[in-house]
Amino acid sequence: MALSKVSLAAVGLLHLFGAADAYSRTARSVTHSTILDRADGLLPEYDYIIVGGGTAGLTVADRLTEDGKHSVLVLERGVFQNSSSVTRVAGGFWGLVDPTLTFNITSVPQTGLNDRSIAVIGGQILGGSSGVNGMQVLRGQKEDYNRWGSYFGKKSEWSWEGLLPYFQKAWNFHPPSAELVSQFDIKYDTRYWGSTSNVHASFPSFSWPVLKMEMAAFGDIPGVEYPSDSGSGETGAYWHPASVDPATVLRSFARPGHWDGIEAARSNYHTLTGQKVLKVSFRGNRATEVVFVPGDATDLTQARSVKAKKEIIMAAGSIHTPQILQASGIGPKKLLKEAGVPLVVDSPGVGSNFQDQPFTVAPSFNLTTFPFHPDFYDMLLNQTFIAEAQAQFDANRTGPMSIASGNSGSWLSLQVVAPKSWKDIAKRYEAQDPAAYLPKGTDKAVVAGYKAQQKALANSMRSKNSAVYNFFLRGGYEEGSVVYLHPTSRGTVHINAADPFFSPPKVDYRALSNPTDLEVLLEFTPFTRKYFLETRMKTLDPVELSPGADVTAPEEIEAWLRSVMNPSCFHPVGTAAMMPKHLGGVVDEDLLVYGVKGLSVVDASVMPDLPGSYTQQTVYAVAEKAADLIKGRA
Ligand SMILES: Cc1cc2nc3c(=O)[nH]c(=O)nc-3n(C[C@H](O)[C@H](O)[C@H](O)COP(=O)(O)OP(=O)(O)OC[C@H]3O[C@@H](n4cnc5c(N)ncnc54)[C@H](O)[C@@H]3O)c2cc1C
Ligand SMILES: *[C@@H]1O[C@H](CO)[C@@H](O)[C@H](O)[C@H]1NC(C)=O
Ligand SMILES: *[C@@H]1O[C@H](CO)[C@@H](O)[C@H](O)[C@H]1NC(C)=O
Ligand SMILES: *[C@@H]1O[C@H](CO)[C@@H](O)[C@H](O)[C@H]1NC(C)=O
Ligand SMILES: *[C@@H]1O[C@H](CO)[C@@H](O)[C@H](O)[C@H]1NC(C)=O
Ligand SMILES: *[C@@H]1O[C@H](CO)[C@@H](O)[C@H](O)[C@H]1NC(C)=O
Repeated sequence: MALSKVSLAAVGLLHLFGAADAYSRTARSVTHSTILDRADGLLPEYDYIIVGGGTAGLTVADRLTEDGKHSVLVLERGVFQNSSSVTRVAGGFWGLVDPTLTFNITSVPQTGLNDRSIAVIGGQILGGSSGVNGMQVLRGQKEDYNRWGSYFGKKSEWSWEGLLPYFQKAWNFHPPSAELVSQFDIKYDTRYWGSTSNVHASFPSFSWPVLKMEMAAFGDIPGVEYPSDSGSGETGAYWHPASVDPATVLRSFARPGHWDGIEAARSNYHTLTGQKVLKVSFRGNRATEVVFVPGDATDLTQARSVKAKKEIIMAAGSIHTPQILQASGIGPKKLLKEAGVPLVVDSPGVGSNFQDQPFTVAPSFNLTTFPFHPDFYDMLLNQTFIAEAQAQFDANRTGPMSIASGNSGSWLSLQVVAPKSWKDIAKRYEAQDPAAYLPKGTDKAVVAGYKAQQKALANSMRSKNSAVYNFFLRGGYEEGSVVYLHPTSRGTVHINAADPFFSPPKVDYRALSNPTDLEVLLEFTPFTRKYFLETRMKTLDPVELSPGADVTAPEEIEAWLRSVMNPSCFHPVGTAAMMPKHLGGVVDEDLLVYGVKGLSVVDASVMPDLPGSYTQQTVYAVAEKAADLIKGRA
């Protein structure tokens, strides 16, 4: 089954789809002619080959080619696409309207979700998911990045302090206008940001009036703070930027930031698009070659290969990086045997530890007394307003059409959300047998890794400085978009044993397989009701839309969650985790794949567990650090 209408509505998509005709659309897929010329000029050998020209891949490629000393080839499954569905800011989700921009895999039916299947979606264009995402620019909490380092011990450079310079390198921050700051009491602190990157973080020139009250209402809840900046690594309610270039008010993403005009100007930088990488080949235990076919191939007759002298760098994203590693012989022995793939390294962690952030997990409300104009829904439904906004945007690139999918909300700890039960939830979670809710037969090392995460995540549940609940505001009379930031269930991404290369991987979120997730989520409903009914929001006469005020018994809320929850907010991580080998890790602290030479992973799959935020900002920072690590061993 596809993304349900309910879940689409939760991110504002349903209405945006309806409004699509109001916008002019340009050609669907523009093939970039210089890239095709290059396909014929492919060298037999490069210093570095990057598999996947997405968010992380293009960031690393830019950094590795800048001094001109090394040759780099990027192999990307998608093509150059620069239609308005990619570049347009307004609403934030046009990338999902054009199916040529994404892959779309049907997940394994989710037993925890009444056997519903989920549409597994990610960017499949030059620029990857950064070219289709909702443009929200959010950083996790300090504890998230310190937790990653803690899996290696105290001395790890993977920490908040260690990553901060890379957050600064990755993002060029443009403060909100003085007018917006005073209208909405926006706090920001440029010390957490940089000003040199070609990837931009900026604010719209206008926002919806109701947001001032909605943001203030969070402060009526005990324990909610307002940090000094969205990038300060703290919990609370805050305004945050979007990945929008303020000079053009177009999407800022990995391709304009790290490729446009750069690749063509550097003779050591080649890109081949429309090509699907099938596997990495080895000489002994050294990764030497990448095998690929045209994107539409269904068999190996058109397979070609290209050699790497120094390193092959995996950046195909959390769904496809594990598929390619497994198809190359790096993965769980049993799975590879079943698929008839010759074993190179028994690496049980490849494709395990799969995580994403569930949404549609709390009630939505309608504010029936609503003295604000305009609001989010004018932009969707009021044709007069849309025409005015379009005219303003066309003339000045300002106004409501400079808003992507949102710039404000709250990121709250379990203590704030569940003041009565957080201690017990954390205690019960910590006491679990770590193998109990992982797939049967999970390798001992992967279980040990989960045990380490379990201890660390139980501590996060007890911490005021770690967010588990995110309410993102849209600025309309209907609100209730809540995301669960740190699920405890772990899924899998496995090659299809019958056809590892050409069939999509089997994606299983194993949603709600760990009972702690349900315990936590059952707290989200009363807490969200508290926000609407017990803060200043109550003066707007909120009426609960879904599941409805009469749904109060835990069993009823549970039944509702199982019928509407989407386990994916498009933030997959963890399938090639950076953890010690004995904890089921796939890559070490230098992002090198255990057991082989000359192979690394730099995309979201290396995150051992989720940050308490959406993922793009962290992917860029990790990629910047990865580029330094790779240069350091050149
Ligand atoms: C619809 C959507 C909305 C999102 N909204 C937000 C948001 O608002 N804020 C936020 O912080 N995060 C958001 N995210 C998440 C964020 O964009 C991702 O976490 C991040 O971009 C992932 O980067 P990556 O480098 O790991 O993978 P990607 O950027 O996805 O790059 C992987 C690349 O590899 C290519 N590839 C895959 N397989 C192969 C193969 N076999 N051969 C060659 N190439 C291959 C793909 O085509 C793709 O270009 C969203 C994601 C999506 C999909
Ligand atoms: C992409 O589209 C935008 C908007 O139409 C345009 O300004 C920009 O130059 C295009 N970029 C490229 C590299 O074609
Ligand atoms: C994904 O596929 C499903 C099922 O075919 C379809 O309903 C949905 O619209 C697709 N989504 C995207 C973003 O392409
Ligand atoms: C929701 O609230 C809006 C505006 O306050 C009102 O116009 C509308 O009738 C309400 N809808 C429902 C279903 O209550
Ligand atoms: C639609 O927008 C126009 C222009 O801002 C405004 O005057 C009008 O009141 C709006 N209509 C409704 C039904 O809110
Ligand atoms: C564009 O900005 C100018 C200067 O602020 C203003 O006078 C004009 O009305 C704006 N145009 C539109 C269509 O909003």
